[in-house]
Amino acid sequence: MKKALITGITGQDGSYLAELLLSKGYKVYGLKRRTATPNFENIKHLLDQIELVPGDLLDLSSLINAVKISEPDEVYNLAAQSFVGDSWAQSIYTGQATALGVANMLEAVRLVKPSARFYQASSSEMFGRVMETPQTEKTPFYPRSPYGVAKVYGHWITVNYRESYEMFTCSGILFNHESPRRGLEFVTRKITDAVAKIKLGLQHELRLGNLDAKRDWGFAGDYVKAMWLMLQQENPDDYVIATGETHTVKEFVEIAFQHVGLDWQNYVIQDEKFMRPAEVDLLLGSPRKAKDKLGWEPEVSFEQLVKTMVDHDLEKNRVIP
Ligand code: NAP
Ligand code: GDD
Repeated sequence: MKKALITGITGQDGSYLAELLLSKGYKVYGLKRRTATPNFENIKHLLDQIELVPGDLLDLSSLINAVKISEPDEVYNLAAQSFVGDSWAQSIYTGQATALGVANMLEAVRLVKPSARFYQASSSEMFGRVMETPQTEKTPFYPRSPYGVAKVYGHWITVNYRESYEMFTCSGILFNHESPRRGLEFVTRKITDAVAKIKLGLQHELRLGNLDAKRDWGFAGDYVKAMWLMLQQENPDDYVIATGETHTVKEFVEIAFQHVGLDWQNYVIQDEKFMRPAEVDLLLGSPRKAKDKLGWEPEVSFEQLVKTMVDHDLEKNRVIP
C-alpha cells in the first residue's frame, strides 16, 4: 500500500486530495497544526480513514517527526499562508510559512526519506504583472504581493533540491481553483455565500474590491488529480495547471446573482477596503504541457463551478443561517 503525507490537509485542496488518494488505496497521513478550536469542516467525513500527525511548517523538528511517522512514498506540500490579501499585513509570517516552510519540508524529506516524491503547491500569483499571455512554464515571474514573492522562493527551492540532490520534486503552478470548500475570504466563495444569504433575506449588500480583475478559475477537484499525476511520471518536472479561459470578477458576480434570479447591480457596492496595494490584473494559463504530458484536462466549466458553489451555499445557509 502506498503512503502519502499531505500538509495543509484541513484546507480546500488537502481535503480533495485526501479523498482522491484514499480512492486509489493509499494510506493517507495529514499534517495538522494546533488550533485552539477544531477546524475539521473540510475533512470531518474522512477523519476515520486518515491519520493526523502534529506539526507546523515553521517547526522543522515536527516535520522531521511527521516524515518519520508516515514514511511516505509521496509528500504533497499544500500548507501555506494562502490568502494574498492578508500577505501585506503579515508579510514576515507569509515569508516564514509560504517560502521558508517549503525549505523546512524539503529538508525533513531529504534527511529522513529522500526517495519520497515531493509535490510543491506553486501558484499563478508568481506571474503577477504578467510578462506574456497566456502564461506557460517558461513565462518569467513578476510577483505582485508578499505571497507571490514567497511562492517564487518555494518554486525555486523545489527546483533546486531536484537539481542538487536528485530528489523527485515537482512544482505545480496552479491557477485559481475553487469549490464549495473554498475559504470564505476568497472572492468566489465570498460572492456565492453572499448571494445565498441575500436570496434568503439574511444579508442586504455585498462589498467588493476590484471587479475588473481577471482570473483563470477552475474546480479544485479537477486540480488535485493533476498533482497526483505529476508524481506518477517517470521524471520530475514543473507544470502549469489551468483551464485556458479567463473571466472577470464582475462576470462571476453576474452569473452568481442571475442563478438565483437577482440583478447584481442592486446589491454590489465597491469598497476601497478590499482593493489591494498592488493588483494582479490578468491571469490566463496554458494547460498545453499538462494535457500533452499528463493527459490532464479540466472537467468542470466556469458556469458550472459558479452555479455549484451558489447551490451549495443556498443549502448551507438554509440549514445554518
Ligand atoms: P487553504 O484552504 O488556505 O489551506 C491551507 C492549509 O495550510 C490549511 O490546512 C492550513 O491549516 C495549513 N497551514 C497554514 N499555515 C500552516 C503552518 N504554518 N503549518 C502547517 N499548516 C499550515 O489553501 P488551498 O486553497 O487548499 O491551497 C493549497 C495550497 O495551494 C496553498 O499552498 C496555496 O497557497 C496553493 N495554491 C492555491 C491555489 C488556489 O486557487 N486554491 C492556487 C495556487 C496555489 P489551518 O486549517 O490550520 O489554517
Ligand atoms: N478576496 C477578495 N475579496 N478578492 C477580491 C474582492 C474581495 O472583496 N474584490 C475583488 N477581489 C479581487 C482581488 O483583488 C483579486 O484580483 C481577485 O478578486 C481574486 O482574489 P482572491 O479570490 O482573494 O484570490 P487570488 O487570485 O488573490 O489568490 C488565489 O489564487 C492564487 C492563484 O492565482 C489564492 O488561492 C492563492 O492562494 C493562489 O495562489
